[in-house]
Amino acid sequence: MSLFVKKPLGQLLAQADEGEKGLKRTLGAGNLVALGIGAIIGAGLFVRTAAAAGQAAGPAVTISFIIAAIGCAFAGLCYAEFAAMIPIAGSAYAYSYVTMGELVAWIIGWALIMEYALGAATVSIAWSEYLNKLFDGSIPYEWCHSPFESFTDSAGVLHKGIINAPALVILLLLTLLLIKGTQESAMVNAVIVFIKVAIVILFIVLGWQYIRPENHTPYMIPEGTAAVTDSAGKVIADYTGVFKHGWGGVLGGAAIVFFAFIGFDAVSTAAQEAKNPKRDMPIGILGSLVVCTILYILFGHVLTGVANWQEFVDPEKGREASVAYAISTYMVKYSWLSTAVTVAILAGFSSVILVMLMGQSRIFYTMSNDGLIPKAFGVLHPKFKTPYKANWILFVFVGLFAAFVPGHVAGDLTSFGTLFAFVLVSAGVWILRVKSPEIERPFKTPLVPLVPILGVIVCTAMIFALDAQTLKVAFGWMALGLVVYFVYSRHHSKLRNGQ
Ligand code: ALA
Repeated sequence: MSLFVKKPLGQLLAQADEGEKGLKRTLGAGNLVALGIGAIIGAGLFVRTAAAAGQAAGPAVTISFIIAAIGCAFAGLCYAEFAAMIPIAGSAYAYSYVTMGELVAWIIGWALIMEYALGAATVSIAWSEYLNKLFDGSIPYEWCHSPFESFTDSAGVLHKGIINAPALVILLLLTLLLIKGTQESAMVNAVIVFIKVAIVILFIVLGWQYIRPENHTPYMIPEGTAAVTDSAGKVIADYTGVFKHGWGGVLGGAAIVFFAFIGFDAVSTAAQEAKNPKRDMPIGILGSLVVCTILYILFGHVLTGVANWQEFVDPEKGREASVAYAISTYMVKYSWLSTAVTVAILAGFSSVILVMLMGQSRIFYTMSNDGLIPKAFGVLHPKFKTPYKANWILFVFVGLFAAFVPGHVAGDLTSFGTLFAFVLVSAGVWILRVKSPEIERPFKTPLVPLVPILGVIVCTAMIFALDAQTLKVAFGWMALGLVVYFVYSRHHSKLRNGQ
């Protein structure tokens, strides 16, 4: 049987409708938008906005947000068509199975592990850093860093990381919550989303009066801006490259803040638990994208108006914890807000991790039902109806990364996995429109094939804008995936075995 054997759409739709046997349909449109926002607003907004402004875009980071959002919107529109048409837990993996066949589906499922599992690991490491910040650095270095990290303190003592324990703790807590139930998880997520959106809005509203127009002029980093050096004369930001000033810098900034949008597609992994997926999936995916884009632009406008973008590269000023810095330096009357921001960031990171873990376990669940990975991944808890074994296996896998690998290693791989999925989903919409025009599509991507083609082009360009090292590791991971497919999955595939 061909490697490109396609799953019949009818079979997939029947699978989505398993009723009592399957995942429970408990989520409404509001839950889905909250799920999207839960996964989207996190390290990207609170950490990378300042980094993009300071390193490439200046105050025009607002335009960077618009560009990254347009790129995501192409893919988002395509996701919305699929998620409403095929409301099944596997997201991009399941859509590819129908449109491009088993091998491509496997490849995309394998790439999604990079997006969700490594995404969860990356954010849990950031969570650990912020927790330490909240406790004024009182967690011993050894217990909150991986063995690959070390640092020499002012007394000349060398500290070497042993294990990132806080990252493990947050992963464990969220895993337990996920096993307890989807609705419970969605409820906790909704509370967190409320807190983090409230803090973002509060910062925008209170910060607005502290905007100084001179911080916004010029709006882009001018050509010829001098490099920034630290006290030892080491260059920490250089503005000579094409993507480091002017419009080029705005594009460079878009690549940096792309991470802030990752997660809206996670809504589609919950399609099998949506009460009315035909109507609510597009609302969940596109609604969360629109809400976050508006908040991001306003947030970028206020942040670069309150503090000058150059302060965001200065290690002694706003390079770390930029939002807290801007508040405590310029909005002195509201210094209480800076602690609240740190707490909100911790909560915000938790919901990103939660939705990423949930998305990954749902993809494992679907792949296991197809026989491509072992049965254990598809076993539902007898009472809670959640894929609890997949959750536990995932905890071990993500936990190993979180505990023993530095955060930056996993970060860019997350972007790779996401963009790769975006490319295939965009292409898939067009393919299925041509091959099966008759299928009922509750939501239709507008301007096909223009939108899918733009989705493919923009996302492919962003993949190649990632650094060479990331691409090497990513392709290595993909090669490993092919080995697994040919050694195990191909022989266990239910479709190929006629089941
Ligand atoms: N968009 C998510 C974040 O910014 C991944 O943390």
